[in-house]
Amino acid sequence: MSSGDGDGAMFSLHERIAVVTGAGSGLGLAIAQRLARAGAHVVIADIADAEDEARAVGGTYVRTDVAHERDVKALVSACVQRFGRFDIYVNNAGISHGAEGPHPLARTERRHLERLFEVNTLGVFFGLKHAGAAIADGGSIVNIASIVGPVGFPGYTDYAVSKLGVVALTRIGALELGARGVRVNCICPTAVKTPMLARNRIGSAESTVFDVASPLSTELRPSHVAALVHSLASDDCAPITGQAIMLDRGLTSGVASGIWQLAAGVDPGV
Ligand SMILES: NC(=O)c1ccc[n+]([C@@H]2O[C@H](COP(=O)([O-])OP(=O)(O)OC[C@H]3O[C@@H](n4cnc5c(N)ncnc54)[C@H](O)[C@@H]3O)[C@@H](O)[C@H]2O)c1
Repeated sequence: MSSGDGDGAMFSLHERIAVVTGAGSGLGLAIAQRLARAGAHVVIADIADAEDEARAVGGTYVRTDVAHERDVKALVSACVQRFGRFDIYVNNAGISHGAEGPHPLARTERRHLERLFEVNTLGVFFGLKHAGAAIADGGSIVNIASIVGPVGFPGYTDYAVSKLGVVALTRIGALELGARGVRVNCICPTAVKTPMLARNRIGSAESTVFDVASPLSTELRPSHVAALVHSLASDDCAPITGQAIMLDRGLTSGVASGIWQLAAGVDPGV
C-alpha cells in the first residue's frame, strides 16, 4: 500500500479492485476511466449494457440494477468470487426527474419521490449494506450525492430528498465501518454536463444559475468529480471519512458577486 507520504506512488491505485455503479455513461464513466488510469482494475456495474466501456478501460462489466437488492448482492459476490476482494466501491448510479420535472410541491406526487428514492437512496443503501460488509479492510466507499439536498432548490423535492438521504447514509456508514478502517465519503456536485443534465427539461437553466451564484467561473466537468473520487479512494486521504464534500465552485460559501450584481447592480467585494 502507498504510504501517501511522498514515496513516489502518490494517489496510486495499483492492484486495487474498484467497483463503480452507473459507470456506463456520464460521471461514472469518467470515474471508471480515471481509476483505471491510476492503476485499478475497474468493475463497471450498470443497468445498461456497458461491455464496450468496460473493455476500453481494461475492466469488467456486470449488469446491475442498483434499485434491486439481489442485484447489488450478486455484484458484490461476483467481485469477491472473481478477484478475491475489492477495495473501492463508488455508489454513483442515479436518476433525476428528467424531462418530467421539476415540479412545485403542490404538483409533486408520491410516485415521483418513490421513483427517485428507489434508485438514488435505496441503491446507495444496498451498496453500503453489501459492499460495506465485503469490502477489504482499509477500503474506501464514495457516494455521489448532489448539491441539491444539502441546499434546497424549489421544485426539486423528489431529487433533494433522495440525495439528502445519501448524505445521511454516508455518515452512518462512516461510523459503522470505521472500526475496519473502511472510509465512507460523499461528493455533492453542482451541475455537470452529462447525458443526465441534457435530459433535464431545465438543465441549461441550472447551469446558468450556478454560473451566476458561484464565485468561481470554472465549469464543473466530469473529470473534476473523477479526480475527487480518485483522491478519496487513495490511501493519501486515509484520515477522511463521513464527509459530504461540496464540489460546488464555492456556491455554498455565501452570496456571490453575481447575485449582488444581478439584484442590486453593486458588488461590495470589489
Ligand atoms: N450531472 C449532474 O449535473 C449531476 C450533479 C450532481 C450529482 N449527479 C449525480 O451523479 C450521478 C451520475 O449522474 P450522471 O449525470 O453521470 O448521469 P447519467 O444519466 O449520464 O449516467 C447515469 C448512469 O447510471 C446508470 N443507471 C441509471 N439507473 C441505474 C440503476 N438503477 N442501476 C444501475 N445503473 C443505473 C445509467 O444507465 C447511466 O449509465 C447520479 O447519481 C447523479 O444524481 C449528477
